[in-house]
Parts: sequence; C-alpha cells; structure tokens
Amino acid sequence: MSRQIIVGNWKMNGTTRDSQALVQALLGKVTADGPEVVICPPFTQLGLLASTVEPSPIGLGAQDCHKEVSGAHTGDISPAMLTDLGVSHVILGHSERRQEHGELDETVREKAVAAAKAGLTPIVCVGETEDQRESGDHFDTLGWQIKGSLPDGFSGILAYEPIWAIGTGRAATTEEIAETMTFLREELIRQFAEAGKTIKILYGGSVNDKNAASILSIADVAGALVGGASLKAEAFLSIISAASAA
Ligand code: PGA
Repeated sequence: MSRQIIVGNWKMNGTTRDSQALVQALLGKVTADGPEVVICPPFTQLGLLASTVEPSPIGLGAQDCHKEVSGAHTGDISPAMLTDLGVSHVILGHSERRQEHGELDETVREKAVAAAKAGLTPIVCVGETEDQRESGDHFDTLGWQIKGSLPDGFSGILAYEPIWAIGTGRAATTEEIAETMTFLREELIRQFAEAGKTIKILYGGSVNDKNAASILSIADVAGALVGGASLKAEAFLSIISAASAA
C-alpha cells in the first residue's frame, strides 16, 4: 500500500482560538515519515493557520473555491487567493455544497479545472443518497457524478462519501466500501484510460478512531476524508496512525 492521505474537513467550525488549539495539538505529532495529512479549516482561519503549519508536514486545504480567478463574485474566494496563502488542496463538490448551494456536476467540474490551473490539488466528492443506495441506483448515480464532475485530464483526488454516512455515525460497511471502490476504479479507467489507474480514491463518512484501521486497509482506499473526528485532536491523531505511511 502506498502512502495514504488523511484529510480533515472542519466544515463551518472553528474560531481563531479553537483552530489554533487544535493545530497546536497536532504539531509535532504529525511527522513527515507518516501518512500525508491535510487540514481544511474555514476560509477565515486559512491565513493564520498557514503560518502555524508552515514549518510542519501538515498541509492546508480549503473547502471550496470559485471557478474564476477574480471579478464580481460577492462572497466568493478564488483558487489564486488560496495558493497565495500557501493552500495546496481544495475540497470540491462536497454533498453539503451540492445540497445547500445547488452545486451541479458542471459547476464542480469548472471549479476543478480552475483549481488545478492555479496549482491546487482538487479533492472532488461524489456520493449517493440513502434512497439511491436502497433502490440499487447508487452505481448509476456515482457513474454520472464522475462523468459530470471530473474534467478531462483530471489528476486530483476523488472522495467517495455516501451522503447517508456523513455525520450520522453510520459509516459504510467494509463490503460496501470495497465494492464501491472497485466500481469507481473501473469508471475512472473507462473515463481516463491509463491515467484512471493512478487517481487516488478516499473514503469519507463517519470515519472515526474506531473504524479507521479497517476502512483504511480496504484495497484501493488511498486515505480518508474526515469530518467530525477531525475536530478532536486525539481522534484525528489515531486515524492518522491507522493510515499507511509508505
Ligand atoms: P463526517 O464528515 O466524518 O463527520 O461524517 C465527513 C465529510 O463530510 O467530509
């Protein structure tokens, strides 16, 4: 297994004081010989945390970006503004953005192009609803999302996050994850040929310190996208130690 990547998605959490305390608890414990670690705080914390994590192996990601470099887009943040701060990754098309902000596959694809052009690594999220899984439509849904959300020449990271597993404490089973990984890999190869073999696929949805080891040992799982458990230093550190370093 190659070096896995653990991404912490803090969502809309974190005052300056909380964020500094959380990062201080990670510093020194996240080492360069471990798995890759990226934290994704809210936009408001990025500038400050960039200088805090700078001398450490902890990478910094954002939770969204706009598809344009600049312009009349009130309230938005461009990829160039993120790289300017030292941000290396950006989560795109998270189901919460798809649901709360009406982001479509096409929007996500345009953002992924813009992010890559600016030098960011996009982490594009896909995932089915509970109804879609129960009715057996989950693979169709995921297939469409991949086709629609990943641009030509995509060389970022894909995150599989079943919507019913996000924030519910009910992670997908290892069988469900394994079967879905096989499907996603086939789709990536169908869409990108040889390049589709090397796109990393993360699992996200109720990953915690108890289930991380079994999830991270599933074939083709290149790491985890962690929400709730990334806000607690101890839990996040145990997830990191369950991941493969080389
Ligand atoms: P969760 O969130 O770990 O709290 O389920 C994951 C995510 O939404 O990225």
